[in-house]
Amino acid sequence: MNIRFASELPAEVRVVAKIVDQDTMPAGLPATVTEGASASRFSGKPGQQFDGFAEIDGKVRRVALSGAGQPTSAERLAHLEKAGAGLTAKFITSGEGAIVVDFDGSGLDAEGAAAVLMGARLRAWRIDTYRTRLKDEQKPTLKEVIAVNSPDGTDSAWEDASAVALGVEFTRELVSEPGNIIYPESFVARCKARLEGTGVEITVLDVAEMEKLGMGALLGVGQGSARPSRILAMHWNGGGSDKPTAFVGKGVTFDTGGISIKPAGGMEDMKWDMGGAGAVAGAMLALATRKAKANVVGICGLAENMPDGNAQRPGDVVTSMSGQTIEVINTDAEGRLVLCDALTWVQQTFKPARIVDLATLTGAMVVALGHENAGMFSNDDDLADALFKAGQTSGDKLWRFPLSPAYDKLIDSQIADMKNVGPRWGGSITAAQFLQRFIENGTPWAHLDIAGMAWADKAGATWDKGATGFGVRVLDRFIRDTAEA
Ligand code: BES
Ligand code: MN
Ligand code: ZN
Repeated sequence: MNIRFASELPAEVRVVAKIVDQDTMPAGLPATVTEGASASRFSGKPGQQFDGFAEIDGKVRRVALSGAGQPTSAERLAHLEKAGAGLTAKFITSGEGAIVVDFDGSGLDAEGAAAVLMGARLRAWRIDTYRTRLKDEQKPTLKEVIAVNSPDGTDSAWEDASAVALGVEFTRELVSEPGNIIYPESFVARCKARLEGTGVEITVLDVAEMEKLGMGALLGVGQGSARPSRILAMHWNGGGSDKPTAFVGKGVTFDTGGISIKPAGGMEDMKWDMGGAGAVAGAMLALATRKAKANVVGICGLAENMPDGNAQRPGDVVTSMSGQTIEVINTDAEGRLVLCDALTWVQQTFKPARIVDLATLTGAMVVALGHENAGMFSNDDDLADALFKAGQTSGDKLWRFPLSPAYDKLIDSQIADMKNVGPRWGGSITAAQFLQRFIENGTPWAHLDIAGMAWADKAGATWDKGATGFGVRVLDRFIRDTAEA
């Protein structure tokens, strides 16, 4: 959906939306609207909506009020996004091709107005690629949101925000595509095509190259699949000679569990098991599009986890690129096997100043945090604090969990250096402990377990049911707050 700015109300657009907070109703609204709103108990609460028809300057308009909550709330920007998103949700299939958001009297600053537009844009994303029989009334009609009377600076604030929206949308696209369409090679191809011309440089490792590097852990995961594994690296060099920040994503393009096969019910959800890699790719697109003044390298560890005559067995011992050996107790704990070699490679190749990995790593994370926060694990308090803050401001919320030697020893193996699963309890923590064993020289590192966040079973504030694009916004915000500050 397109967002554009205009200097006055276009005559041809019927819907005029107003963002209304809980303190003051904007002046100058027709009495039918203000009285209708109060009769419907519309008070401007976040997400609340009211609309009515009124004659304005001789033309019948549909005036839509969208609630933005308390203007002093700490969640002000989230509420403004929700106000914008609510308008899109309401009008997306309404038959209207465009709506106006009239900021006159809204009391908003540029940042607030851009948040409204961000919400409107993000809520419009959907994937209809495979829906060939949509009825007319099911098809999206809303093509454009036109901002009028926007506060000074909204257009440049929006230009910046729209880069992030582009990244979120790309992540949603990658995550939504089914496993027969997105597999390691096609994931790479999709990223190459999308990042072309942005200035992002791309490096790809194929199976032969990974064999040469000794990536036995990652390759073990993919060896039962007809789709060969890949590592994708995307480099954005906007920060001079600074050491890069590394983002590393789990990209299991489909996770059957392998020989430790998952139950049939709900297995289709495992096409989303590349949500970490999808977030990394979307973040790189966002950073490059807004020409971030930072050096960032985004790595995706890509493999498909299938059962097969050539698949790895429970009990197999594999040797990782780091030289550490791993007893594969459960072939369904594959994400950490993919990530560990990607982590070693990124450290040896790019000497990053800090590493953030993202992975749909454990079902236990969803048990612990549901769908409100991703879990965060870190060896560095400053990094964890910066990410926590970025999570709060961006809306991609993170909650920190502990790491300690007592958890670490739970993955000691009797035959190898470690095993790939611990006991049942604390499963997200032992997964993080596993990853920490691959962090060299105490490099600041954080692991984000996004298992509960990559997709949603129902529509949320700024997303429809399906892929959320989680991760792009917190990574973008983190780079703004740290490398670019
Ligand atoms: N991709 C799954 C984790 C997952 C489960 C993400 C549900 C989202 C929703 C991961 O590869 C996995 O299978 N983890 C196992 C680990 C176990 C075998 C130690 C799990 O969480 O059950
Ligand atoms: Mn698994
Ligand atoms: Zn998985």
